[in-house]
Amino acid sequence: MNLIMKMLAAPATVLALWAVSAQAATTDDIAKRLEPVGQVCVQGQECKGMEVAASAGGGGAKTPDDVIAKHCNACHGTGLLGSPKIGDAADWGKRAKEQGGLDGLLAKAITGINSMPPKGTCADCSDAELKGAISKMSGLK
Ligand code: HEC
Repeated sequence: MNLIMKMLAAPATVLALWAVSAQAATTDDIAKRLEPVGQVCVQGQECKGMEVAASAGGGGAKTPDDVIAKHCNACHGTGLLGSPKIGDAADWGKRAKEQGGLDGLLAKAITGINSMPPKGTCADCSDAELKGAISKMSGLK
């Protein structure tokens, strides 16, 4: 069993036991309660259970590492679809020059550009949180 399977399996078992012991009125009821843990976590997309775990740590703002790990790394970790790779200063530097610096890159990240989805799939990221992630990936300040 890999880690993701374990993380999914544990709460699913607990929830299943709970649902049975709570004697939910209908099977629909049970299905609904199980729904959130049954959802598959796709890399690059938000994983609900994980988010709860991460935000339970307190403090509203997402850290750059958090945003990158959950949203940007899926593509930028490997340069997928021609995205500038994390730490590839030359590629990021060239783009920053074209867009007018970090703020220009931020603007493109918000609207999206070609295969780059709007906000890099982090729909609930603030501009500041996106900027933090871009700064960290590019090394630009
Ligand atoms: C689905 C894959 C994917 C994800 C997820 C993704 N990106 Fe991108 N990103 C791309 C691609 C592809 C490009 C290159 C687009 C181009 O120049 O054609 C890109 C380019 C960029 C650029 C440079 C834009 C420019 O003007 O050159 C920034 C900034 C950026 N991404 C930020 C982010 C941030 C921040 C996240 C996470 C919140 C993120 N991306 C998540 C695919 C992705």
